[in-house]
Amino acid sequence: MKFANLFTTLTCLSSTALAFPTLFGRSAEPEPSNSGVISPLAKYKPSVFIINMFTLEQNPFLEHFDLVYNLTVPGLSPIYSEVHCNSNYTLCQVTTGEGEVNAATTITALSLSTLFDLTETFFLIAGIAGISPKQGTIGDVTFAKFAVQILEYEVDARQMPSNWTTGYFSFGTDIAGEYPGNIYGTEVFELNEKLRDRALELAQTATLDVGTKGNAEFRALYDYAPANRTPKAIAGDTLTSDTYWFGSLLDETFANYTKTITNGTATYATTQQEDNATLEAFIRFAKFGYVDFSRIVVMRSCSDFTYADYFTERNETTWVFTKGSQGGISASTKNLVLAGEPLIHDILQNFDTYNNGAYDAENYIGDMFNTLGKNITTRTWGVLDTVAA
Ligand SMILES: *[C@@H]1O[C@H](CO)[C@@H](O)[C@H](O)[C@H]1NC(C)=O
Ligand SMILES: *[C@@H]1O[C@H](CO)[C@@H](O)[C@H](O)[C@H]1NC(C)=O
Ligand SMILES: *[C@@H]1O[C@H](CO)[C@@H](O)[C@H](O)[C@H]1NC(C)=O
Ligand SMILES: *[C@@H]1O[C@H](CO)[C@@H](O)[C@H](O)[C@H]1NC(C)=O
Ligand SMILES: *[C@@H]1O[C@H](CO)[C@@H](O)[C@H](O)[C@H]1NC(C)=O
Ligand SMILES: *[C@@H]1O[C@H](CO)[C@@H](O)[C@H](O)[C@H]1NC(C)=O
Ligand SMILES: *[C@@H]1O[C@H](CO)[C@@H](O)[C@H](O)[C@H]1NC(C)=O
Ligand SMILES: *[C@@H]1O[C@H](CO)[C@@H](O)[C@H](O)[C@H]1NC(C)=O
Repeated sequence: MKFANLFTTLTCLSSTALAFPTLFGRSAEPEPSNSGVISPLAKYKPSVFIINMFTLEQNPFLEHFDLVYNLTVPGLSPIYSEVHCNSNYTLCQVTTGEGEVNAATTITALSLSTLFDLTETFFLIAGIAGISPKQGTIGDVTFAKFAVQILEYEVDARQMPSNWTTGYFSFGTDIAGEYPGNIYGTEVFELNEKLRDRALELAQTATLDVGTKGNAEFRALYDYAPANRTPKAIAGDTLTSDTYWFGSLLDETFANYTKTITNGTATYATTQQEDNATLEAFIRFAKFGYVDFSRIVVMRSCSDFTYADYFTERNETTWVFTKGSQGGISASTKNLVLAGEPLIHDILQNFDTYNNGAYDAENYIGDMFNTLGKNITTRTWGVLDTVAA
């Protein structure tokens, strides 16, 4: 069904041009396993696709897995213009670029690319995030059932009514804390819980990197768990916002918002800048069978806390987040590969099991508009008579 795409821009031909259009191989010659590929419309059918958002997330995967082929795909980010694949195209990787616009555009382009048949592909979104100290710690790796987007009105808190606790309030309301009156459709995504639980179970078999001495010192500034414990793989819902925010009041504001928008079903753990955009692009194509929305795992490791309880040197929130290094980048990027590899390996080794429904969704999957047309009475959040547009 994807052959209809007219935008097959075959931009670059490698030295093995006729047999391998649009491919750049890191190795001089392609593997024998590719010798059957002869048509410019040939499609690869990866079992697993890793999705990263920027260089520091991408590099540990490129270094760890033998992703020998680079494929130019029209519509990817100008600075991450190639998909990387292993020698038999069972495992591929793309980097979207950061923020919601980059994520949605790249995933749209990937879903439409005639190079790939993604109908049976499992997607592992693998990125770093901020973590609420109430839910986890730096170095943790989280697996989400819900992805929630911050879509709200905002007034500078200095100009809000004196009895308000936050300057954020829902669309179509005139007071903080209420359920929105207007729905954009990307506010909430519910993912396959059974697959999420499988990913988490496998990640918990990994030995995670505990990070540096500085990480341990920063964790010790909190006098409670989970903030002051060592890293683990945990379940945790994720929040998307282009604004990179921090501080305890915004943490509480958006924890409240997550509860409000999901009727108390989701609990915000991590904060990042892309997942709902990635999921929105995927769901539009899942509707037409290009991708399977039940095969998406959102994994976010934790590079920094969203707020500090106190910081002994200087206590201003901005100083803690701009100058006082929490130092979690190294552990969080290493842990993406450590926690993601068991799932990737398991799918590659046992693809038939995964493909034949072993981890099919038993919960509602989809968005606010029920774009996938699931049995909406099984949904525990959203307005149940909201229909797909
Ligand atoms: C393929 O892409 C990777 C990552 O960007 C890069 O390191 C490598 O040099 C590229 N290989 C070729 C042959 O262009
Ligand atoms: C694909 O290649 C990988 C090594 O890159 C290998 O482990 C795997 O068994 C191969 N899979 C198939 C289906 O050939
Ligand atoms: C973002 O996606 C998550 C998980 O898919 C979902 O739970 C969440 O509601 C979405 N949020 C927004 C604001 O779109
Ligand atoms: C704040 O004050 C206004 C005006 O008295 C009132 O209507 C509102 O319910 C109060 N509470 C909040 C949370 O705004
Ligand atoms: C979050 O919700 C609780 C309970 O309704 C409320 O007491 C608190 O003030 C809210 N926090 C913010 C920052 O709005
Ligand atoms: C920061 O806050 C902590 C806890 O309240 C306090 O012990 C410490 O003295 C403060 N540091 C500075 C530089 O104000
Ligand atoms: C939808 O789910 C509800 C609750 O589980 C069930 O009672 C109902 O029969 C289902 N409807 C359809 C059309 O499957
Ligand atoms: C969620 O809350 C909204 C606003 O109160 C309500 O209209 C909707 O019916 C609730 N959904 C569920 C599934 O309880």
